[in-house]
Amino acid sequence: MEKMKTVFSGIQPSGNLTIGNYLGAMKNFSKFSEDYNTFYCVVDMHAITVRQVPAELRRRTYETLALYMAAGLDEKKNTLFVQSHVPQHAELGWILDCYTMFGELSRMTQFKDKSAKNAQNINAGLFTYPALMAADILLYQTDIVPVGIDQKQHLELARDVAIRFNQIYGDTFTVPDGYISPDTMKIMSLQEPTAKMSKSDPNPNGVVYILDSKDDIMRKFKRAVTDSGSEIRYSEDKPGVSNLMSIYSAFSGKSMEEIEREFDGKGYGDFKLAVGEACADGLSKIREEFAKLIADKAHLDEVMKCGAEAAFYHARKTMSKVRRKIGFVN
Ligand code: TRP
Repeated sequence: MEKMKTVFSGIQPSGNLTIGNYLGAMKNFSKFSEDYNTFYCVVDMHAITVRQVPAELRRRTYETLALYMAAGLDEKKNTLFVQSHVPQHAELGWILDCYTMFGELSRMTQFKDKSAKNAQNINAGLFTYPALMAADILLYQTDIVPVGIDQKQHLELARDVAIRFNQIYGDTFTVPDGYISPDTMKIMSLQEPTAKMSKSDPNPNGVVYILDSKDDIMRKFKRAVTDSGSEIRYSEDKPGVSNLMSIYSAFSGKSMEEIEREFDGKGYGDFKLAVGEACADGLSKIREEFAKLIADKAHLDEVMKCGAEAAFYHARKTMSKVRRKIGFVN
């Protein structure tokens, strides 16, 4: 029998997750559960590259785990865990720092964006963030990494680092492939449809959070910025309408052509209501599940503990190989 392939992905417990995070990555995670060995990690060590309030970081770590589960990841079929619970992430992170070039890290667009936004705290961790991400992935000999399109550059760096390490020391790491789902286009802000929907957007009306109430969701879609003209048509010169169509398509499963036909002759008002309904319906189950899960901390603690143990087992195996290859004394 062929060995089961491994899937790894991570989400930071910083800020509330948006429908962009959900549609771009999380929604895809559960489809790997049956046929792959899956690891889904709450990457709290990545989160501290930006200042966090300790109590909030702790709360959001639980919330992110609960969201994984609410979005359909069964803890018995997936390894769900917290990055800082498995010390090999930091250990391999340091090692990979030494195989990642300054020039490579300098080219990362996320680093450039984040350092522009945090000019008072451009710390070394923010800079080497992608090497830690590579460590996350390579520790588990990962084959496939489902991520949003914004992580493509980091993923390519992880591949380059794996290839470089393998060239120096012989086969050590599986070289991972990204999985960027074809139907998850980038979700843009509802208020400024040329900018990515971001959990740190200062304009709260532009962002729909996974845990928003139906009323909030409907209100935000009603206020969504559209374009001149009145047609519901997917095109580059209609960024507002096209973004709403992407969201509608992702939640309803309908194609762009079907949506254009459905709203032929109808106005923006009807269309925005329909998008809001589809989004609220799509999220309602997650919201209900989440409420149940977050109320039971003891269970979440247990899930974290089991997940960390399972992850530790695999991480330790890779680390002993890495230490030997590098020449660390056993
Ligand atoms: N950098 C990712 C993000 O911000 C989070 C992340 C950290 C990640 N480690 C990872 C994603 C490993 C996939 C695999 O979205």
